[in-house]
Amino acid sequence: MAVMDIFKGKEVLVTGGLGFIGSNLSIELVKLGAHVTIVDNMLPRQGGNLFNIKEIEDKARVNFSDVRNELSMNHLVKGKDFVFHLAGQVNHVDSMRNPIQDLEINCHGTLVLLEALRHCNPSARIIFAGTRGEYGSSVKLPVDEDHPTNPKGIYAVTNLTAEKMVLVYDDVYKIRGACLRITNTYGPRHHMAHDEYGVFNWFIRKAIDNEEIPVFGDGRILRDFLYVDDLVESLLMVAGTDGAYGDVFNVGTGIPVSFNDLAKRIVEIAGSGKEIFTEFTKEREEVEPGDYYADITRISSRTGWVPKTSLEEGIRRTIAYYRTYKKEYW
Ligand SMILES: NC(=O)c1ccc[n+]([C@@H]2O[C@H](COP(=O)([O-])OP(=O)(O)OC[C@H]3O[C@@H](n4cnc5c(N)ncnc54)[C@H](O)[C@@H]3O)[C@@H](O)[C@H]2O)c1
Repeated sequence: MAVMDIFKGKEVLVTGGLGFIGSNLSIELVKLGAHVTIVDNMLPRQGGNLFNIKEIEDKARVNFSDVRNELSMNHLVKGKDFVFHLAGQVNHVDSMRNPIQDLEINCHGTLVLLEALRHCNPSARIIFAGTRGEYGSSVKLPVDEDHPTNPKGIYAVTNLTAEKMVLVYDDVYKIRGACLRITNTYGPRHHMAHDEYGVFNWFIRKAIDNEEIPVFGDGRILRDFLYVDDLVESLLMVAGTDGAYGDVFNVGTGIPVSFNDLAKRIVEIAGSGKEIFTEFTKEREEVEPGDYYADITRISSRTGWVPKTSLEEGIRRTIAYYRTYKKEYW
């Protein structure tokens, strides 16, 4: 059976399912015939948006609750085959301004979910969406999974900790868990309200509005930008591969692109906007890890996943989406 066929008729819980990645994943799961339940607390200043799931609003169940709520989680995990854990405090800058909230959501919330699985449904599988930020500053490129982890901000620390919790529950309690370390991801259904996280989509907004696109420093920092459909496919392929559990996987394209080149390509494709250089804010500089691009050998060899969307195609599709649905995101 092809990996994607296994989701047909399955019960799936998506935490953070009203956000960027969770909503794109939920839509794909519904297409594959899964019964999707979303849990999301609509944390202010993050990506939760009911419009994100408009096309599946009659097909997915939505529970407005918090992953830190034990009673809710105990109830919601029952009968599920898979749990995709995408609820999180995702704002790097906020994680430094309000570290206790970050810790509470990313660590305490993950532990509540794992305990719910242990007590109420130990046979479910959990897939955790961590971040490439767990590596901190790269000491060699491309970065593989054995690279040292020296997180630069609290968000990256709490993601690394949550990842370790998932792996401990896999090891000790045999609750099958797999963890992704996800690179910068962009595409439809990302919030567009501010520039504090998800700077790629912020560049798209500025280009669509024919405004200046602010590139920090000299724009030469390298990143690995992944289109969201490719990320969704990686989540599904990891979930559907027995040999992927108990392990950690980089997800990226492996292709380095500078912020400077990125801004130029967005301007070219949008036909509007203008790149300008600006100084790093102090808050940004403090958590900026520098160049990053992923070595994706492990995920490709273990699951067969490879990214398919070129940067140009991804930018084109993202611009087309926001030009059509601008009023839902601005
Ligand atoms: N987007 C990226 O480039 C990227 C990169 C690496 C890792 N990730 C990780 O992927 C996950 C999803 O990120 P995203 O980009 O979709 O962000 P997002 O802000 O669009 O979505 C996160 C969702 O989680 C919800 N949420 C937050 N706290 C919650 C709580 N306590 N209980 C229930 N729901 C809660 C929010 O309301 C939001 O809808 C996060 O864990 C993030 O750290 C994202």
